[in-house]
Amino acid sequence: MLLAGRATLVMGAQFGDEGKGKLVDRLAEGADFVCRVQGGNNAGHTLVIGGKKIVTHAIPSGIVRPECQVVIGAGVVVDPFGLKAEIGELRAQGVTVEPARVSLDPRAALILPSHRASDKARESSLAGEAIGTTGRGIGPAYASRAFRDAPRIGDLVWDGMDVWRERSPHLFEGWESGTYEALLELGRELRPFVRDTVVLVNDALDHGRKVLVEGAQGALLDNLFGTYPYVTSSQMLAGAAGGGLGIAPWKLSQVVGVFKAYATRVGNGPFPAELSGPFAEELRTKGHEFGATTGRPRRVSWLDLLALKYMAKTNGFTVLAMTKGDVLAGMDHVGVVTGYRSRTTGEIMTSWPMRCEEWEDVEAILEFAPGWRNLQDPAFERFIRLVEEAVGVNVGYVSTGPGRDEGYIRNLC
Ligand code: GTP
Ligand code: IMP
Ligand code: MG
Repeated sequence: MLLAGRATLVMGAQFGDEGKGKLVDRLAEGADFVCRVQGGNNAGHTLVIGGKKIVTHAIPSGIVRPECQVVIGAGVVVDPFGLKAEIGELRAQGVTVEPARVSLDPRAALILPSHRASDKARESSLAGEAIGTTGRGIGPAYASRAFRDAPRIGDLVWDGMDVWRERSPHLFEGWESGTYEALLELGRELRPFVRDTVVLVNDALDHGRKVLVEGAQGALLDNLFGTYPYVTSSQMLAGAAGGGLGIAPWKLSQVVGVFKAYATRVGNGPFPAELSGPFAEELRTKGHEFGATTGRPRRVSWLDLLALKYMAKTNGFTVLAMTKGDVLAGMDHVGVVTGYRSRTTGEIMTSWPMRCEEWEDVEAILEFAPGWRNLQDPAFERFIRLVEEAVGVNVGYVSTGPGRDEGYIRNLC
């Protein structure tokens, strides 16, 4: 999946938590760089290495491969306090996090304490209509960037914060005493990590190095093409990935769409084949479907082939990677969504709803495939072929468990 002198994007094809971190860690074995390009510490990538669990949030999963360099690109929003905590947690687990192998772009916008506060306040004010954000201040930080209101990493580490305090005083209100001083101190600590990552990554590509881009969240949460307004505030669309890093689109040659054999969603919003009751509870428990960032129980559903097909089109997946088929083992039948039906008109919809009102009106059309006893059962391979045929993209990698080595390359051509 990795080509010399080219970047490969690993992105979520559903609502996030598909197991991108695990796949990135696996692919990072052959990579020189692993880069984040969007989102922030709303992400939670879980890696299981030698039975030990490591969770990364803003730092790319490649950090656990000592030979790999990692990059936080300009398109990411960075909470310096969250980053410091994450660096501390990784170091406590024996991971080397040093400026020689971690680069932070000075143009990444900052998440300030006021962004976190306004994220939570806005969610409370929306009450029943809340998005169900992670509360990490991601949306308000991107909004500030769009307003050209917010300081960026470069301002923090190169003594530019006082200028911003005068320019955008509202962002510095309501802070606990001592927080501003602690932030400045953090700026000094982070300074050695900050450099021009556009030069770093483009030069690496020019020299034939292998670069992996680690998507966060998932295509159905994309700010533009997801289930708006129940989406995140960044674009994880494949077409935007180069932009978040400052590399040309043609330097990105592979787009790996990662999906679970079923589906999960954290937070609110449309989920047409959502399961409930004891069966949903069983699936959630068996799949350990609890958020890696917030601990919230994930909503569960059958695999939505219509959504997967639409997102394959939108993002141009060159190959798919399937995770968590092991969680479904032992079931008599496994459901897939093949279309939607309008509840009001009964009309069959074969494409992706584009407006909130349409989403509220749809019910999923389900078909059931025979289940598999274990992953050697031919029914499992038949299920994978069913997905390939419906989506029109090969399933190149199959993950068979959370561990680094649990999985196999299936069909890369
Ligand atoms: P976000 O960036 O937050 O969207 O996360 P992610 O896509 O990196 O996934 P996350 O780590 O949040 O969730 C995936 C979970 O599934 C983790 O707990 C993984 O350890 C686990 N996992 C990954 N692949 C498999 C698999 O094939 N089988 C099982 N049983 N677990 C898996
Ligand atoms: P925000 O990104 O915190 O603003 O949250 C917006 C929506 O995206 C909510 O539904 C969150 O639950 C969801 N979300 C954000 N990050 C992740 C992630 O990494 N995995 C899964 N869902 C996420
Ligand atoms: Mg996650």
